[in-house]
Amino acid sequence: MRILITGGAGFIGSHLANELQRRGHYVRVLDDLSGGDPARLHDGVNFNRGDVRDLPRLWSLLQGVDVVFHLAALVSVPASVLYPREYNDVNVGGTVTLLEACRDVGSVRRVVLASSATVYGDHSRQPVYETMETRPAVPYAVSKVAAEQYLFTIGRLSHFETVALRIFNAYGPGQPLPPAHPPVIPQVMQQVLGRGSVVVYGDGSQTRDFVYIDDVVDALISASLAPNVDQQIVNVGSGVETSVNALVEAISAITGLKANVLYNRESTGGLARLVADLSRAKELLNYRPRTQLETGLRKLLEMDPIFAKSRRKLPKLLPTQGQTVG
Ligand SMILES: NC(=O)c1ccc[n+]([C@@H]2O[C@H](COP(=O)([O-])OP(=O)(O)OC[C@H]3O[C@@H](n4cnc5c(N)ncnc54)[C@H](O)[C@@H]3O)[C@@H](O)[C@H]2O)c1
Repeated sequence: MRILITGGAGFIGSHLANELQRRGHYVRVLDDLSGGDPARLHDGVNFNRGDVRDLPRLWSLLQGVDVVFHLAALVSVPASVLYPREYNDVNVGGTVTLLEACRDVGSVRRVVLASSATVYGDHSRQPVYETMETRPAVPYAVSKVAAEQYLFTIGRLSHFETVALRIFNAYGPGQPLPPAHPPVIPQVMQQVLGRGSVVVYGDGSQTRDFVYIDDVVDALISASLAPNVDQQIVNVGSGVETSVNALVEAISAITGLKANVLYNRESTGGLARLVADLSRAKELLNYRPRTQLETGLRKLLEMDPIFAKSRRKLPKLLPTQGQTVG
């Protein structure tokens, strides 16, 4: 395949680009580096710095491309509350521009969109499945609902295939750890390893579906190849519901370090529960998540350079749950 990945220098995009290149595909990346780093990409990946809202740039980068993965987006839920216009510009405007360019160029066979589980919002019934009502509660989620709708509408009108993957909480080596609003897994890992306090929002009973990066990449690649996925929405998670308290305990067990948890009850922990129903992913993508949380956390600790220094200071990496030291 000849592939364009927007946002391909980001966390998920760089893992995807490197894996596709390793499998022998021609991979082109477009990323403005607002959140990405081209050093993550293997030499064989063709990197281009630029904005996904730049239509003429897209016309030229799409020449000869048959599959597009659209991952470029602003990704922070709290930042989207502060800057909804910017989130709309990039996440919705960028998607529409890309789709227009695909329509104009004509060689694109399929566009795969990285949508998000945040579109479900608050549902007491779990796990969530694709035909359930979307209840976006933050501008980031609204932008993903709009992106899905544009994807399917423009794809249908312009005769190329489209599929949207609703990705749950992805984690793994290479996930950025920004000082403001970091993702929960690398943040807790860093706090435990730094032997400081682990700050948990709410009472820690809120649950999420943590999915390891290799499983997300598998699902994305299957979505580009599988038959019968046109106009489909597909959940991509682990299918396992884990509370934040259980996550902290798992990280504590793996590192062998006691976690000093501080509960910030002034702030909510967000949605009470969120976990994926994977029936459709299994049926359409033959998707089977392979990495359990404990294994994924261990890989994160062993492979992510952010944790290299702390890792060397650990008494030992425990093979399974073991004693904790203070
Ligand atoms: N990581 C997750 O848990 C998760 C969950 C659900 C959905 N997603 C979606 O998956 C995609 C990738 O997420 P990620 O976690 O790798 O985040 P990321 O921030 O690492 O990757 C996004 C990339 O998009 C690039 N980008 C942003 N604005 C751009 C623009 N205007 N033009 C070109 N490039 C631009 C950034 O530089 C960055 O490299 C996003 O669309 C995100 O919404 C991620």
